[in-house]
Amino acid sequence: MSTAASSQATQNISYADLYARWERGHWLATEIDFTQDRIDWQEKLTADERRAALWFFALFFHGEDEVADDLSPYVEAAPLEEQTYFLTTQQVDESRHSVFFSRFMHEVVGIGDGTAGSALESTEQYLTWGHRETFKNLKAVGQRLREDASPARFAEAITNYHIIVEGTLAQPGQHLMERWLENTGVLPGFLDGLRNVAIDEQRHIAFGMKTLADMYANDPEEIAQVVIDAIRNSGTYLMAFAYPKDGGSAFLSPLGIHLEELYADSMRSLTSRLRGIGLSESQRSKALTLNPELSFEEQGSMMMRLLDSGYVGDGSVPKSKKPEDLALLFDMMQNLIRANPPAVGTVVQFDFTDIGPRYYLQTADGLEYHENRHPSPSVSIKTSLDDLLDLLGERVSPVKLILSRRLWVSGDRGLLVGKRSVFGPPPEKSVVRHRNPVLARLGFS
Ligand SMILES: [Fe+2]
Ligand SMILES: [Fe+2]
Repeated sequence: MSTAASSQATQNISYADLYARWERGHWLATEIDFTQDRIDWQEKLTADERRAALWFFALFFHGEDEVADDLSPYVEAAPLEEQTYFLTTQQVDESRHSVFFSRFMHEVVGIGDGTAGSALESTEQYLTWGHRETFKNLKAVGQRLREDASPARFAEAITNYHIIVEGTLAQPGQHLMERWLENTGVLPGFLDGLRNVAIDEQRHIAFGMKTLADMYANDPEEIAQVVIDAIRNSGTYLMAFAYPKDGGSAFLSPLGIHLEELYADSMRSLTSRLRGIGLSESQRSKALTLNPELSFEEQGSMMMRLLDSGYVGDGSVPKSKKPEDLALLFDMMQNLIRANPPAVGTVVQFDFTDIGPRYYLQTADGLEYHENRHPSPSVSIKTSLDDLLDLLGERVSPVKLILSRRLWVSGDRGLLVGKRSVFGPPPEKSVVRHRNPVLARLGFS
């Protein structure tokens, strides 16, 4: 389906129908029978399967709890009555999902004292850095919407909630969990509940897409910018969302799931959502920092490599200096700049004190990458790779680096900040008030 047809199909969804589907689709989280699940958990699952499943389920349990808490500003800000009605049904759904996971944790795994609070507390240890950051961001987005219910803020919030959290992170993971349960036949009660959760989520995501597709049709430029900014702001969290603390893409393999596969599905899902909203190819490539010409499988394995190399994440993985990993990092950077091409002849120089110089040159034919020093760069950033990555990851302040003489910038700083920025223009007209993700981390905005 072309982008136009896909977006038209999304706009044709009706809020009344989504509401009606909710009325027809009732299910009871309190009545799911976990008798066989308890037996399976203890007797059929191996220790490795239990370890992987508990970790993965805990991410979902906490996610459900967070989204149930965070939806009220959306109900208040929705401009149409039909949207308000739907969002209140969604709020009930999210609470039901939390109850379902909470019951499973207590009655099957034996965690906590039967209250949701105790189950959440006992499973908090499993959360990843990316998970925490994602929901910290979602909370901040909801707070901004509370203060300013403008269309831009509403679109920003819906992008974060329905497109990123539900459509990109949750749904692909749920499908892989379902596949494991269907293939093995274990935990029938959990599978039953999970299928119901997935149907609910499908409705929520359809609502988010419909809302954004209508808003985009009405004001393509502003809404596209809001969506692009929202996705780029959460890009690194997205990648690290399902990356276990002790690393390794094999963590979920006892469940027959490979993290690369999960990431590939997430990228496939996100791309199709963006098409459904109506974003053009060039707008989509601005939102996604990886090369959009790569297959989703290649993007998935590239994300794993960025995480395994320590370039993305919480900073605990040692940063690789291997040439093949560095090539991947600079390729990603190149895509970032390619989406915001500077004037022909512009040279952005990175003078790395540890891995040697690199620069990007914009020619009439496109962006070139070179592993040496240009005689007359337009702008130079001198620092170490570790420091640059720590800046990007907000683990060190740029001021501290400058004062301790570990970061220098010379030349045309306008290429790093403001309208001409190669990392993307700053949020104009305060469409999205928060900072440009890369520049903010470099300390320039
Ligand atoms: Fe949910
Ligand atoms: Fe949901």
